[in-house]
Amino acid sequence: MSIILIGFMGAGKSTVAKLLSDDFIDLDKMIEQQIEMPISTFFDLFGEDDFRQVEQEVFEAAIHMNFVIATGGGIVENAGNLDVLGFQTQVVYLKSDFDVLWQRILKDDKNQRPLAKNKEFARKLFEKRAPVYEEVADLVIVVDNKQPDKIVQEIRDWQGNL
Ligand code: S3P
Repeated sequence: MSIILIGFMGAGKSTVAKLLSDDFIDLDKMIEQQIEMPISTFFDLFGEDDFRQVEQEVFEAAIHMNFVIATGGGIVENAGNLDVLGFQTQVVYLKSDFDVLWQRILKDDKNQRPLAKNKEFARKLFEKRAPVYEEVADLVIVVDNKQPDKIVQEIRDWQGNL
């Protein structure tokens, strides 16, 4: 079974995945290998619908590898992905307030996020997605002001009790 980390942009999914396992998959990186360009360039050239199509294909391939998977924040935008998440038993939602996430997004200059160019647009996305993350999650961890090590420990403790 894979551990699948979900949550909005800036929640720390990749950082936590890396700490959980050396064999982690960063879905955005896997997508960039497949499309051979940065995600932001792909959005500019082909748009979001085509991106979601590739994201779904890559996610379905990744799920069979039984690794820790850090998903992109929009993984819940696609009905097929929601079906896949529904069958998984270790979906972990890294939950945070929008304002905390927005500050982290602003500080992160390594990632060009095409859907985070405008704060109000991003807030609306967050408000639409937040209930869906909750719905598909098997474990919800509030990550505000929490060190990644502590988050990893909470996930391990939870797994130990499964
Ligand atoms: C997206 C989030 C990004 C990336 C793409 C779209 C989204 O991943 O997949 O820019 O729709 O929220 P992160 O959540 O890792 O930033």
